[in-house]
Amino acid sequence: MADGVVLITGGNRGIGLAIAERLAGDGENVVITTRHELPESQLAALDALGIHTVVGDVTDEAEAQRMVNDAMKHGEWLRGLINNAGINRDKLMTRMSTEDFNAVLQTNLVGAFNMSKPALKLMQKQRQGSIIHMASVVGLTGNVGQANYAASKAGLIGLMKTIAKEGGLRQVRSNAIAPGMVETDMTDALSDKTKEAILAEIPAKRFAKPAEIADVCAFLLNNEYVTGQVITIDGGLTL
Ligand SMILES: NC(=O)c1ccc[n+]([C@@H]2O[C@H](COP(=O)([O-])OP(=O)(O)OC[C@H]3O[C@@H](n4cnc5c(N)ncnc54)[C@H](OP(=O)(O)O)[C@@H]3O)[C@@H](O)[C@H]2O)c1
Repeated sequence: MADGVVLITGGNRGIGLAIAERLAGDGENVVITTRHELPESQLAALDALGIHTVVGDVTDEAEAQRMVNDAMKHGEWLRGLINNAGINRDKLMTRMSTEDFNAVLQTNLVGAFNMSKPALKLMQKQRQGSIIHMASVVGLTGNVGQANYAASKAGLIGLMKTIAKEGGLRQVRSNAIAPGMVETDMTDALSDKTKEAILAEIPAKRFAKPAEIADVCAFLLNNEYVTGQVITIDGGLTL
């Protein structure tokens, strides 16, 4: 396992960091992407866990290719790619600018395509590998104020299913995780009123811990017969 690289985009905080910590703890050879050079103290903390970093922006095709190449300096083969990097720019559809629509699509969907293309090429050659996409329940249900975000996550699910079909012949698997609400900076930005309204709709009556999402990710990385699936982890929100 140690010579196979698991590459996680947006691994410096939130769900991506939780996945990196979990998989490194499991003995995986983890490389995370960060948009900027991290401060020395943070690099040292990651280093202590055996987590490597590569720097770049997933929205840029050439940078994505280069990040995959850089990640491969840390191992012999590509065991996994976790397309986790994502942003939101919420606004009601009628007030949403084209710029905000495009920016979210560019990061959440095109970014995943940019990373998956070189990764899939490597994995098909290796005849093994797993690509996991961080979707969202709103990619399944839609959501008020999230036309851009919901469209990007629904698109990600289509991308995932296609990779699962194209990669299947060469033992490459692809799956998506659809979290509900998770305790990260992304949900911290919501007002208390909005949080309370959402909590009222969640049977579990709490947001997920990032480590709980990492649990599902570890399962999808390791199980060799699950492919083309969306695993919802939402405390019952979509019931
Ligand atoms: N939190 C939730 O409730 C929730 C629910 C469902 C799905 N998700 C999805 O889970 C994923 C992680 O969410 P999170 O809550 O952990 O978000 P977060 O705390 O806001 O972290 C987002 C990560 O993505 C990185 N990123 C953003 N744009 C990027 C780009 N262009 N290139 C490379 N990296 C980029 C960020 O880098 P910087 O640090 O440089 O900004 C950061 O590392 C996202 O795809 C999100 O849509 C989250």
